[in-house]
Amino acid sequence: MSVVRQLRQVDADAAGVDIAFRADVHAGLSQAQKAVPARWFYDATGSALFEDITALPEYYPTRSETDLLKRHAGDMAAAIGPGRAVVELGSGSSSKTPLLLDAIAPAAYVPVDISGDFLRDSADALAARFPGLAIYPVEADFTQRVALPREICPLPKLGFFPGSTIGNMVARTSVDLLRNWRETLGDGALLLIGVDRIKDVATLELAYDDPAGVTAAFNLNLLTRINRELGGTIPVDNFEHKAVWDDVHARIEMHLVAACAMEFIVDGRAYHMAKGETIHSENSHKYGPRDANLLLRAGGWTPLATWDDADPAFALILAQATEFRSAP
Ligand code: AVJ
Repeated sequence: MSVVRQLRQVDADAAGVDIAFRADVHAGLSQAQKAVPARWFYDATGSALFEDITALPEYYPTRSETDLLKRHAGDMAAAIGPGRAVVELGSGSSSKTPLLLDAIAPAAYVPVDISGDFLRDSADALAARFPGLAIYPVEADFTQRVALPREICPLPKLGFFPGSTIGNMVARTSVDLLRNWRETLGDGALLLIGVDRIKDVATLELAYDDPAGVTAAFNLNLLTRINRELGGTIPVDNFEHKAVWDDVHARIEMHLVAACAMEFIVDGRAYHMAKGETIHSENSHKYGPRDANLLLRAGGWTPLATWDDADPAFALILAQATEFRSAP
């Protein structure tokens, strides 16, 4: 069966530039605190750099989550059951997916990712490994509404949202996304979601500021991408990577810090930055057990089981689409 066809659900202009990218960059650079949403990290270079991050000794989330999948796949499979269409949000390299697919005997696999070429390569690699499985890649921004391939409509769904990618969103956006996917995946759906835990600040900050500088390169690549795709003149060498824990919001914040005052142009518009001013490029929220459950419930999902005995701590939570009931 293998890869059936790749659907594309992104809007590009005549030059092939993502319309939402241009709008987000202009809106973000015009704010008092400059900011660009983290999803724009993932061009081909950014996706490859993220893969390098996952192999760093300091970046524990991938290791912890893979460890949970390896040790508890049997329990997860028992709770999930066979015959579901697995819809993976932000599939990237799909490197953890085989651990899940091996255990649960799925009926179909739908990887959803914003990086189209990366998606194609990962889907092909997965098809080689699971020749009997129907794979329907969807190139789309999973934070927007996604139309699922019609072939999987009648199948019960399992949303798979690993990596703690939900952590990139502020609470309000997370709840919107969870509610959206509650509707898209339908009644009877399950969701297996990865959530990073709050832990000591040193471990957290080192994971986002590794000595080898891979995370710095990942962060700075955002500026290179803006220059290439939006005709920018940003002097990338004048920026520094910063990652810091914000205890009020329980999140790591990544910033691009201007090392000196500068002027630059993006897509015909001029911008100014003072020395020390930053572009906020990512949030990575961390959740305690009750925080995570509350977030899921607010988004229309009832937690059924949690696996979180990895070190450093990380959680995989299985939740079920909740039927809406008003109080009490
Ligand atoms: C892919 C969003 C899970 O927040 O840990 C890694 C991205 N940023 N290092 C994260 C990331 C810097 C990562 N997620």
